[in-house]
Amino acid sequence: MKISKKQLEEAKRIVRYYGRDILASKRFERGKHITHHGVTTVSRHCFHVAVQACLFAGKAQEREFSVSMRDVVRAALLHDVGMTEKRVFKSLSCKKAYTHPWMGGKIAAEEFGASPIVQDAIRHHMWPICVIPPRHLAGWILILSDKTCARREFRKCKESRRKKAGTVSKISTCTLGSSKDAPT
Ligand SMILES: [Fe+2]
Ligand SMILES: [Fe+2]
Repeated sequence: MKISKKQLEEAKRIVRYYGRDILASKRFERGKHITHHGVTTVSRHCFHVAVQACLFAGKAQEREFSVSMRDVVRAALLHDVGMTEKRVFKSLSCKKAYTHPWMGGKIAAEEFGASPIVQDAIRHHMWPICVIPPRHLAGWILILSDKTCARREFRKCKESRRKKAGTVSKISTCTLGSSKDAPT
């Protein structure tokens, strides 16, 4: 999907508009200090997912699918909010995959008054790891956007690790190269 700079800026504006209370919340602030997917933070990831979801939802609306942009944006901004709970982010990653969507749904309802559609999207965004799929289009848009952004982030993470490993091997080659000059 080709996106122009103008479309991207418009999507960011929509995310800031529908998610202004979330973006200004303590929860979101907390997420800025939690590393996610090796190269980003929970909050930055959620913002990128929301922008991506906004673009996908726009395409769906153009094709006359009925989906609320507000629900899509809020579900995306809150989908990983469960990670900001200490007992979730400190648990094993295999357990986290199941617990953070449920914790996220609970936080979204209690702290942000999330609609049933938003709660459903958050609770089932880890499909197919969590076997129950979402019941609404907003949930499917969230899944697609989350996976698109996660793939991008994991690729970045791999690249930066490869670069670091390259630097290390260069350093060790230099060290090996100069070792012949080392006093015996
Ligand atoms: Fe997640
Ligand atoms: Fe995510």
